[in-house]
Amino acid sequence: MTKNKFYVTTPIYYVNDAPHIGHAYTTILADVLSRFHRALGDDTFFLTGLDEHGQKVQQAAEKRGLQPQAHCDELAPRFMDLWKKLGISNDDFIRTTEARHQGVVQAILQKVYDSGAIYQKEYEGLYSVAEERFITEKEAESGQFREVKTIKEKNYFFKMSQYQERLIKYIDDNPGFIRPEHRKNEMLGFLRQPLTDLCISRPKSRLSWGIEIPFDRDYVTYVWFDALINYISAIGYGSDEAKFRRWWPGVHLIGKDILTTHSIYWTTMLFALGLPLPEAIFAHGWWLMGDSKMSKSLGNVVRPLDLIEQHGVDAVRYYLMSEMILGADANFTPENFIKRYNSDLANDFGNLLNRVSGLIGKNHGGIIPAALEPTPAEEEVARSGRVLVPRVEALVREYKVDEVLNEVMNLIRQVNKYMEAQAPWKLAKTDLPAAGRVLYTATEALRLAAVLLKPVMPEKAATVLAILGVPDSGLAWGELKSGLALPAFPPLFPRIEVEKKV
Ligand code: MSP
Repeated sequence: MTKNKFYVTTPIYYVNDAPHIGHAYTTILADVLSRFHRALGDDTFFLTGLDEHGQKVQQAAEKRGLQPQAHCDELAPRFMDLWKKLGISNDDFIRTTEARHQGVVQAILQKVYDSGAIYQKEYEGLYSVAEERFITEKEAESGQFREVKTIKEKNYFFKMSQYQERLIKYIDDNPGFIRPEHRKNEMLGFLRQPLTDLCISRPKSRLSWGIEIPFDRDYVTYVWFDALINYISAIGYGSDEAKFRRWWPGVHLIGKDILTTHSIYWTTMLFALGLPLPEAIFAHGWWLMGDSKMSKSLGNVVRPLDLIEQHGVDAVRYYLMSEMILGADANFTPENFIKRYNSDLANDFGNLLNRVSGLIGKNHGGIIPAALEPTPAEEEVARSGRVLVPRVEALVREYKVDEVLNEVMNLIRQVNKYMEAQAPWKLAKTDLPAAGRVLYTATEALRLAAVLLKPVMPEKAATVLAILGVPDSGLAWGELKSGLALPAFPPLFPRIEVEKKV
């Protein structure tokens, strides 16, 4: 098997608020993909972190009566603790106030300035205070930008416009670069308008919380120019060339709202630096509550911690990964959560495990029976198991985790039907070894499903594999060992009983 390299990133989150389910989603997605790639034998590096500069963070700190750095230092552990609770296996965690990042941002600014791609000019234009950037007349008319005012200011600009044609060509030549497809088209649409240059400075008189511009101390760096660089500062750009070459380019997982900054600002910055563009930029949809976006101001954010406390980490990870269809928005409701949990985990998976182990206990002395020669019915289940593995691998390489889960659950559903058809509880009365063959096959399918579900539900899957006595087994069909004793275990996914309204 050829060993691939997989470098994956999440957006770095603003430390202006506690993390919510939207942040948790991207981070879990990156974690699941990393775990799959590691399991496939790929060399994997997973980066996440925090965006600590800029106006939003400064304002959040002011509100709490704290210095920005003190505010960031206080909030950072909330993210780190949540990631720990969610079982996130990141290899690094970057904060943009760290010296290792700030130094790289300044070196890059100097380099791009020296190359002539940054210039100063006085500019008068519309500025969205909420979005923290200059906007066009057209954008202002769209009504999507809040707190718009006219600002006249001398600033530094990055010659983004000079890369327009090159970027269009790159996107056209690399169909898998911006994903999913409709997001690529959205960006190509955006690029039909003339690209303007990017204002990359903020005068300290207006905003002081940022990285000082190395060639003009009256200014700090625009937060996006600073933040995007985390993807390379964390992996050694400018400090550890070998490490950098090993990992770059990477895959950026982002929400659809930050697609422009990634596929236009970041890519042109990379052009200016003479670096390869990311391997892929994958934009997922929004988690909605009812029909509206989750947001602090609407007061409808779902706190991941509450859910974890109620239903366990793995159930939350499973729900988020299965419910959001690649690239589309998803609706979060407690009812959906319970429905998904009860049907997939409690009924399909959990019941099969209980049923199989119950029958092995009752009729086979609690010992995993012999596999025997398969009949066509077993061949069919085994074939499904065998084709599932490469299929999952292909889906993982396409970032389609929701489809992976669907396929694994389809195997489980197929095995439930096979159990019904073979009825090993009846068969045991006339042909005990044949009943054992059915139970071996069903248990083996459960084992394979657990291996495939492990990146999504690391704890539960490990428990299943430990119960089956093959904690380190892999993806080949038939790794379950006959003759091992099955221990007693409490239900893995107890059904959530919903109180009926009277
Ligand atoms: N700091 C910038 C990213 C810089 S990356 C170099 C930022 N931070 S953020 O905290 O506001 O948002 C981070 C991510 O969370 C974005 O990808 C955004 O799409 C995602 N989400 C925030 N709310 C969300 C939902 N309700 N649903 C899904 N994801 C959402 O932007």
